[in-house]
Amino acid sequence: ISLRPYNTFGIEATASHFVPVRELQTLKWALGRKDLPPPFILSGGSNILLGGDLNALVLYIDNKGKQVVWESEDRVRLEVAGGESWHGLVLWCLEQGYGGLENLSLIPGKVGTAPIQNIGAYGVELKDVFHSCQAVALEDGSLREFDKSACAFGYRDSIFKQEAKGKYVIWSVTLELTKRNHQLNTDYGAITQELSTQNVHDPGPREISDAVIAIRRRKLPDPAEIGNSGSFFKNPVVNGDKYAELQGRYPEIPGYPQNDGTTKVPAGWLIEKLGFKGIRRGDAGVHKNQALVLVNYGEASGEEVYALAMEIQAAVRKEFGILLTPEVNIIK
Ligand code: EPU
Repeated sequence: ISLRPYNTFGIEATASHFVPVRELQTLKWALGRKDLPPPFILSGGSNILLGGDLNALVLYIDNKGKQVVWESEDRVRLEVAGGESWHGLVLWCLEQGYGGLENLSLIPGKVGTAPIQNIGAYGVELKDVFHSCQAVALEDGSLREFDKSACAFGYRDSIFKQEAKGKYVIWSVTLELTKRNHQLNTDYGAITQELSTQNVHDPGPREISDAVIAIRRRKLPDPAEIGNSGSFFKNPVVNGDKYAELQGRYPEIPGYPQNDGTTKVPAGWLIEKLGFKGIRRGDAGVHKNQALVLVNYGEASGEEVYALAMEIQAAVRKEFGILLTPEVNIIK
């Protein structure tokens, strides 16, 4: 079966075996089939670059459901099935009057993969609202709970990208959200600007979500129109000496100081500086409004997109002495 509809890059690649999973039983049954090729867990397909056809038992996680598991006057804990759409959940929470997810509006993908890379945007990361998750071990189908500290969240990072990589399916995620006294986060420059342009003075979760949606629509390509996986690389972090050296050469270089004395440099700036923004190599390209986003204009193969990524990585390394690491999972 073609995996093209199942990856937001829109790369054409096939799977030798494919099972949609809506029930835990189906997952356990599939994991027990030792006569089939090894499992490959597929969820929203919004953070993968398929390098070729997969000889694998692709398990497409598509379980549904949302359930309040605890609440007080101010807060609510919501357990959400991993197969639910992330942005669908954000909109549903806004309708219920729950706060906490508004800055994370319009992020492609599903709920179950949100913890893997600790999705984050406009000043908020998943870890800020995360309570726990239930994960199924691929080894024996057993369920295990990970609380927040067990997930070891970091910038675009968690235990599911480290020791636990490729070992679990995240079956459900429990989030802790606010019912009132929302902790709004409007500090990110682009949000402050958007709210003031729209003349919003006393924003609530809904207004923040609207602002984020407007910003994302302007800057980021819609995967339904142009294939992409959001930011292709992570923003690199450099030490104080390195940043001073870069500032010496490029006085206008942006940088965000981190708590540990390092500085996060926007990869999009480095890539744009080298003239890659908007370039095209066949059907692979760099988005015209956001240099950190690689795109597939139609028929690009995974190899072509990867070759462009490596060309960018080498150029950035040569000019700035910084090694960009992909944020997207490259499947070879
Ligand atoms: N910039 C440029 N040129 C560009 C793009 C960015 O110069 O083409 C510079 C500008 O200085 C700009 C700064 O980079 O002010 C930051 O840009 P932006 O706000 O677009 O954010 P980003 O650092 O490029 C990160 C996340 C995004 C997230 C935004 C907003 C990573 C790898 N990416 O991008 O996440 O939406 O911040 O919070 O951290 C994703 O992970 O797929 C993703 C889209």
